[in-house]
Parts: sequence; C-alpha cells; structure tokens
Amino acid sequence: MEENHPNLTRIIEEELIDYRIRSRFYHPKYVKSLGLAGTERVLEFGSGGGSISRALAGALSPEGALTCVEISPYWIEKAKHRLKAFSNISYLLGDITRMALPTDHFDVVIVHFVLHDIEPAARVEIVSTLAQCLRPEGSLFIREPANPLHEMPLSEIRSLMRNAGLREIRTGCTRTWRRTWICGGTFKKSW
Ligand SMILES: C[S@@+](CC[C@H](N)C(=O)[O-])C[C@H]1O[C@@H](n2cnc3c(N)ncnc32)[C@H](O)[C@@H]1O
Repeated sequence: MEENHPNLTRIIEEELIDYRIRSRFYHPKYVKSLGLAGTERVLEFGSGGGSISRALAGALSPEGALTCVEISPYWIEKAKHRLKAFSNISYLLGDITRMALPTDHFDVVIVHFVLHDIEPAARVEIVSTLAQCLRPEGSLFIREPANPLHEMPLSEIRSLMRNAGLREIRTGCTRTWRRTWICGGTFKKSW
C-alpha cells in the first residue's frame, strides 16, 4: 500500500463523521467566525479529504483562492473529486516542508486538526514553513483537539507559534459535547 494511505477505520470515520456531519453542519460556522473578506489567498495545510476546504472555498469570491496542501495521494484525490464544482481551489501534493512555497505570499493559513497527528519533533519545522509563506500581517488560524489521547495543549500551540515569529491575537479552548477539548487561536506575522 502506498505511503500515507489511511487505514479503513479512518476512511470510514472521515466519510461518515468528518465529511457528512462536520463538513456540513459545523465547519461553515467555524469558517464564518474567521471573518474572511472573500478575496484572500488562503493556504490550507493538511486538507485531507476536503472536509473544511469545502466551507473555505465557499467563503471565497472568484477573486480569492484556496491552496490545499496534502501529503496523502488518497486524500487529495478524494478532495479533488468531492470539490470539483469549485474553480477557486488548487491542490499541492506532498510534504509541506519539502515544497517550494512562495515566501510572504498567503493572506491566510489554516491549520485544522493536523499538528496533533504529527510527531512533536517535526512540528517546529512545519510551523516555521507556514510562517514563511504567510505575508506580513497575514493571519494563521489553528484548531487542534486537546484530549488525553491526541494531546496538543494550548501551551504548545502558543510556544510553536511564538518560536516561528507569529504573534498571538487571541487563543482559547472550547469543550465539545463529547467532553473533549478543542484549542486554537489566531496568530499574525509581524513586518
Ligand atoms: C487529521 S487530517 C485533517 C484534515 C482536515 N484538515 C480536517 O480538519 O478535516 C490531517 C491531514 O494532514 C495531512 N498531513 C500530515 N502531515 C503533512 C505534511 N507534512 N504535509 C502535508 N500534509 C500533511 C495528513 O495526510 C492528513 O490528511
């Protein structure tokens, strides 16, 4: 089986919960809360099967553009198929730290439920790559689960962002109906 191919449990969970439920009923609300103007160049790191990309692409006008970066060929093909109606999405397949992304380019970077799945030692280089491709005064929005099995505490998010030169605008954690926590926030790149 190819590298980065998800297992069957993850495929079923993504199809039934992420794409059918979260993508339709929860993600549009989160994307609305970001206050996008619609004309931004947005980079989504770890876009998976497009569960949040759908709401992001829908929030952008024809002048805006969404770039989905995903390491798994399976997920990127899934997203392309699901989101073929959107003409404002482009897809980059590969490891984000091995891509020649433009410097100071994107107005917005989205990290949604990605870093917690990546081994802690690799997170620093990833966040530094994201900070580099963000334009000065551009915004990085992050949300990660913070439960005992998949831990990504807010303190780690804060220190990763600070070390990459991003300043904190707002952060916080919310409790889900399953009594787990989601932590995240907004960070900006200074001039
Ligand atoms: C848990 S999924 C989240 C998908 C989507 N953001 C969401 O919220 O539904 C995380 C995704 O990040 C991708 N990923 C992990 N490391 C990556 C890397 N270094 N470069 C690009 N994509 C990566 C994984 O393949 C996976 O599809």
